[in-house]
Formats: sequence, C-alpha cells, structure tokens
Amino acid sequence: MALAVTGPQKAAADAFAIESQKDCCDAFSISLSRRSQERRMVVCICNAIREQDLKDALRDGAARPAEVYARLGRRPKCGQCLSFAQSIISRETATA
Ligand code: FES
Repeated sequence: MALAVTGPQKAAADAFAIESQKDCCDAFSISLSRRSQERRMVVCICNAIREQDLKDALRDGAARPAEVYARLGRRPKCGQCLSFAQSIISRETATA
C-alpha cells in the first residue's frame, strides 16, 4: 500500500528526488561541496525544512528545535526530525 504524500511533504520529496537525480548525474563530472549539500539536506520532511533554513534560524537567535520551527513559522508534526535537528544545533553551537 502506497502512502499519499501531499502538501509540504510532497514538495520536499519532489525537491529531494530532483536533487538526487541531479546529484547522480553530476557525480560523474562535479564533486559537490559540503556546503552545497548541507543547503539541500532536508531536516524535516513534514515542514520542508532544510539544514540551511535551520542554520539561518540559529543565526537569528533560535537555540532549540521548537524555536527554530517557530522562527520558520512552522510546528513539528510527526516529531521524527527533532533529534536530528537537535544534533545539528549541538554541532553548530559547539563550533560557533
Ligand atoms: S519530519 Fe519534522 S515534524 Fe515530521
């Protein structure tokens, strides 16, 4: 049984599929920089939040996943992403 994906989840999944396809094709000729990959990495599928969005919110003063989501005008839905978001926050604040 296939799940129907709609709204922001579908947009994120579509973007990921397109980017993945590009990555596959580009792998033969271009090595993507880590920064470029981070910009495209989806942290939260439910809200289509990418790692770069999260880092931008951190620079704006957010310090916890809930604050990041609030700054982006979104709320956690399934919660699957929260530990991953927290790990990115911890990494970014440790290196800042
Ligand atoms: S993946 Fe972030 S709330 Fe579902």
